[in-house]
Amino acid sequence: GHERRIDSLLDIMTLEEKVGQMTLFTSDWDVTGPTIREGYQDDIKTGRLGAIFNAHTAEYNRNLQRIAVEETRLGIPLLFGYDVIHGYRTIFPIPLGEAASWNAEAAEESARIAARESAAAGLHWTFAPMVDVARDPRWGRVMEGAGEDVYLGKVMAAARVKGFQGDDLTDPLTILACAKHFAAYGAAQAGRDYHTVDISERVLRDIYLPPFKAALDAGVATFMTSFNELDGVPASGNEHLLTEILRDQWGFMGFVVTDYTSINEMVPHGIATDSAAAGELAIEAGVDMDMQGAIFYEYLAEQVRSGAVAQSQIDEAVRRILRMKYALGLFDDPYRYSDTTRESENILTEANREAARRIARESFVLLKNEDNVLPLAKDGGRILITGPLADSQEDMLGAWHGDGRAADVITLLTGMREAAGDKAQVQYVSDMTEAIRAARRADVIVVAAGETWEMSGEAASRADIGLPGDQGAMIRELAAIGKPVVVVLFNGRPLAIPGVDSTATAILEAWYPGTEAGHALADVLFGDHNPGGRLPMTFPRSVGQVPIFYSMKNTGRPMDPNNKYTSKYLDESNDPLYPFGYGLGYTTFEYGAPSLESATITRNDTARVSVELTNTGSVAGTTVVQLYVQDVIGSVTRPVRELKAFERVELAAGESRTVTLELTEEDLSFYRRDMTYGSEPGAFRIYVGADATTSNAISLTLE
Ligand code: IFM
Repeated sequence: GHERRIDSLLDIMTLEEKVGQMTLFTSDWDVTGPTIREGYQDDIKTGRLGAIFNAHTAEYNRNLQRIAVEETRLGIPLLFGYDVIHGYRTIFPIPLGEAASWNAEAAEESARIAARESAAAGLHWTFAPMVDVARDPRWGRVMEGAGEDVYLGKVMAAARVKGFQGDDLTDPLTILACAKHFAAYGAAQAGRDYHTVDISERVLRDIYLPPFKAALDAGVATFMTSFNELDGVPASGNEHLLTEILRDQWGFMGFVVTDYTSINEMVPHGIATDSAAAGELAIEAGVDMDMQGAIFYEYLAEQVRSGAVAQSQIDEAVRRILRMKYALGLFDDPYRYSDTTRESENILTEANREAARRIARESFVLLKNEDNVLPLAKDGGRILITGPLADSQEDMLGAWHGDGRAADVITLLTGMREAAGDKAQVQYVSDMTEAIRAARRADVIVVAAGETWEMSGEAASRADIGLPGDQGAMIRELAAIGKPVVVVLFNGRPLAIPGVDSTATAILEAWYPGTEAGHALADVLFGDHNPGGRLPMTFPRSVGQVPIFYSMKNTGRPMDPNNKYTSKYLDESNDPLYPFGYGLGYTTFEYGAPSLESATITRNDTARVSVELTNTGSVAGTTVVQLYVQDVIGSVTRPVRELKAFERVELAAGESRTVTLELTEEDLSFYRRDMTYGSEPGAFRIYVGADATTSNAISLTLE
């Protein structure tokens, strides 16, 4: 089928036309919508530009497509890409927030809706999911991924790929996904974006690659390279990554796009003398498409002519790209994603908003709830709302919000007023001094605090990860009045906020909830929804503890408070403020001791770990049963524990249920001393509980 048609196309394409397929340029945006530089329009006409990003809407993209299809020699359709990260127009919680739901179906659903909206708006391809494991909250891009954990990262990566791509790419409401950034972008030194990455091959394979492999196993169509170097070689020129691992070991059949001008950046990286040399490095490493750098565009054809680059390398790259254009059905109907009726029927629908509200409230993590101050009573109370984010529509969208519009956003204030109706008195005071005065007459104070939306995302690293500005002081002053203070946090990263923890009565982590923020928050604050989110990333006590994550190594001198010469700080605890997997709700759960069907298993067995769970509170609620494994002795040291399974369980008040989780040899495997992958016989500790600090454990032996 397609391969033969691609062969015949390759036979008649000029070198320039081939390089055109390997070239991706951005459109611009002016006041009224997307626009394209004149030069780029000419490039489309001459067949020198095969893909465009940041151009969207059915009508605009149809016009560009028409140029490609009707005015070029071969009529090869354009491919349209965009950063659809957590929604196109209906904006869902930021991916880190969605990961806090520990609900793979929710992640899949939001990706499916994002795909539907963007496909209806003329798009074929999203630069998502970002599957970078991220263990440094200073790094602003932690908001785009699933957090610090490998296993949760794999689950979320697969779910998002399935959501975007569906199971039939020719379906005009699905789009190509892109696993990014390959690889180890999240390991930037000191959490500074684009900074050097220097990790061992073992850490690369054990920690950073598995979510990419999970995306690939879920069928992801494309990969994006990363900006960073890895062991001295920038990712866009890294043959080990792009060819040995991705192609030879994993058998990836889709195409690889660079990140924005990252080929060009190999000059400042200090690995290529000039742009032409950088281009050669990239093509030889296995890059198929150059995003925005115009390096292939400029030099590649000539390099093939001179023999510096093999013709076969170009043909292979073009084949991979055309394969995806065929897979989308663009050769059958290049306009199938440019239907204005479909666009108006699919974007920002009531159903999409409803899903965004449901998923947003599942992403919230209740960090503290002294005296059960939450949920708030809807009737009769005097609620004072204050704080810089209480009524900011734009901030609720978070970074990378696609074509999300602030005007469509329900803020916390609007949501609370709507929910309270005329029963509770909701007063809003934006000014700080006035808020303190008003607080005396209130029954409860809700403070919307955190980071503005542009404080996380790309190029948004922070060296101080406390609450910005004087918000901490404001919360302290309000708390000093003696009324309960409920802090609702909006942020794209874990924050180090021990002061807020010790002064606020309740803290609800809301991330950036998206378009339906205020509705979702009111659902939770008034108790119509019992929060069940769990942290996908450790919250440190101070930035000096970073990197801090639950699956650390034990060291030879594990912390002992009575022994100075052990691994600890003089001025800070080793413990996080809130651990990975942590989250409260409006009810309580009791976990029984774990039991094993058999305490000894052989390599082909499945271990079944059961635990009895009881909702000991007075309302229905959700808990996330988390199973962690420690491989006690290995040929290389192993983390103190690693998440290997989890299940979200909803129980009515007083209800009990036995939950059984399974472990296979795969879950006990790692890169051993000789770098072969597999398990090692011996003792394992299996922890089952409500967060990563649980001591509820049982031993398992692998024979
Ligand atoms: O997709 C992004 C990437 O994550 C960071 N650099 C820019 C790309 C395109 O917008």
